[in-house]
Amino acid sequence: MCGIVGVLGTHEVAPILIEALKRLEYRGYDSAGIATVNDGVLDRRRAVGKLVNLSDLLVHDPLAGKSGIGHTRWATHGAPTTKNAHPHQSGPVAVVHNGIIENFRELRAELAALGMTPVSETDTETIAMLTQHYMSQGLGPIEAANETIDRLKGAFALVFLFQGEGDLMIAARKGSPLAVGHGDGEMYVGSDAIALATLTDRITYLEEGDRAFVTRTSVEIRDSEGRLVNRAIKQIHMDAARVDKAGYKHFMAKEIAEQPTVLADALRGYLDGDTISLPGEPLDFTKIERLTLVACGTAFYACLTAKYWFEQLAGLPVEVDVASEFRYREPPITAHTVALFVSQSGETADTLAALRYCKDKADKIVSVVNVAESSIARESDLALPIHAGVEVGVASTKAFTCQLNVLLLLALKAAVDRGRMTPEALAETLASLRALPGVLNAAMDRSDDINQAARQIAEARDVLFLGRGLMYPLALEGALKLKEISYIHAEAYASGELKHGPIALIDKSVPVVVMAPRDALFDKTVSNMQEVLARGGKVLLITDAAGAAEAGQDVWKTIILPEVPSILSPLLYAIPAQLLAYHTAIAKGTDVDQPRNLAKSVTVE
Ligand code: AGP
Repeated sequence: MCGIVGVLGTHEVAPILIEALKRLEYRGYDSAGIATVNDGVLDRRRAVGKLVNLSDLLVHDPLAGKSGIGHTRWATHGAPTTKNAHPHQSGPVAVVHNGIIENFRELRAELAALGMTPVSETDTETIAMLTQHYMSQGLGPIEAANETIDRLKGAFALVFLFQGEGDLMIAARKGSPLAVGHGDGEMYVGSDAIALATLTDRITYLEEGDRAFVTRTSVEIRDSEGRLVNRAIKQIHMDAARVDKAGYKHFMAKEIAEQPTVLADALRGYLDGDTISLPGEPLDFTKIERLTLVACGTAFYACLTAKYWFEQLAGLPVEVDVASEFRYREPPITAHTVALFVSQSGETADTLAALRYCKDKADKIVSVVNVAESSIARESDLALPIHAGVEVGVASTKAFTCQLNVLLLLALKAAVDRGRMTPEALAETLASLRALPGVLNAAMDRSDDINQAARQIAEARDVLFLGRGLMYPLALEGALKLKEISYIHAEAYASGELKHGPIALIDKSVPVVVMAPRDALFDKTVSNMQEVLARGGKVLLITDAAGAAEAGQDVWKTIILPEVPSILSPLLYAIPAQLLAYHTAIAKGTDVDQPRNLAKSVTVE
């Protein structure tokens, strides 16, 4: 996902823009650039690769000016080259963009007919060119920008800067988030509050279709109909410290380590003694006959885990689907169905589109999110925060366990509402849940063991993850973690599926990670594991002491976790899955926090 920042400042903005873009690095990018207006002159610098390359360029070829815009680009149209890096400039207009302009080829053809030739492969350059065209027709910056934005189809967050206009930025939001920051005699625009965290905590979130006309002393916001609107200035409680590594080598390491703390915090927010207290209007599961859970990636695996909980604990039928497939299936949404969307960022385009598909069909739209002001949260009837804190590493870790926590609490509430769980049984489960942060801490102590295994996993070309029941979604999550940050091909299967094909993959070169607490399905998983061992497979068994005693003899290595009630095992077994991926990536030397090709939040379809 691209990152956007704009500053109308009272000091030289180049270093300020670079600092703000650093706070957006977590989104993933492959080039960066800034543009400034200095004494009316518009100019820019751009570089491929990490921000340090742009900073180096600015040392040798500085850019003066107190007004500027900046961008980190995650390539959609056109390769990651300097030519394709933002800001894009056409004559007196510079623009930065997050999203996809779906009709840019049509617009580009129109401009070609007017003799205007692009120099990049990007859709964004077309925006600058079209604005320049309107200005050449005599329109001023504001009118030209409005005319251009009216022509654009697709999803975009845009910021414009103009030659000769040292006190004007124009921002527009349609499908990609954008915020205005309020300073003292300064004004800012950013993709999110994190970008502006060191500049201000007074933030106005633009709504869908909004356009903001910003000067150092004012911001005029107009909605999609052109009407002047007031959008609230919110005080964002995000200390700048929350977005740095706090001494850890990587954000991912910090965020793995934070899980016991953030989980304990979240539980304090959701438990009132032995009562589960949800914010907002009450969710009465006696009136709900079906749940539809929709998400992407790791959030989808949290939903898959929740399916087992809702069905086993509450006897509530649950449908789960990945958001990118969901709405194209045109699933019938029957009466008394609640549609629930899980998203760390709250901005994932596919998940947001699936939510909008359900808007007029489901009884209620519920979301489980980590960003309270996100689009998905704002478009839900009930948004349940996971309280994970800012998650910067592209690979989701603490958000996953915090998503599981909220989903488990919902399943427990459903079980009680539907008369399938006594208050005593609930109290017992909640007591175990309250103790879980301490158990997660104990699991972190296995990090050195896991690191040893990781050094051998790092040599593999293919890795298989196996799990049954609640451990099946965890196997899927473990495979995703490993592949997304170490770039090793990893797949996960329900262990009972092994003999239906995947067992053909087994030989001594394919490590098999078996996730199996000593629960009701353990014996079946062990027999699947024996099938692997009988074919010379190399098994890394992740289990508890009882499991290790029973089945740890012939395996390559065993990671022994503390024992927990089976219902809580997904939150615990996420820890070794995360640590295995982390240590393997370190062994491989890949970019742990910003793995190649990936973005923290995918705001394009
Ligand atoms: C998980 O490690 C990945 N970064 C990715 O699968 C992510 O979970 C997915 O893109 C969904 O993001 P969201 O939770 O912000 O919607």
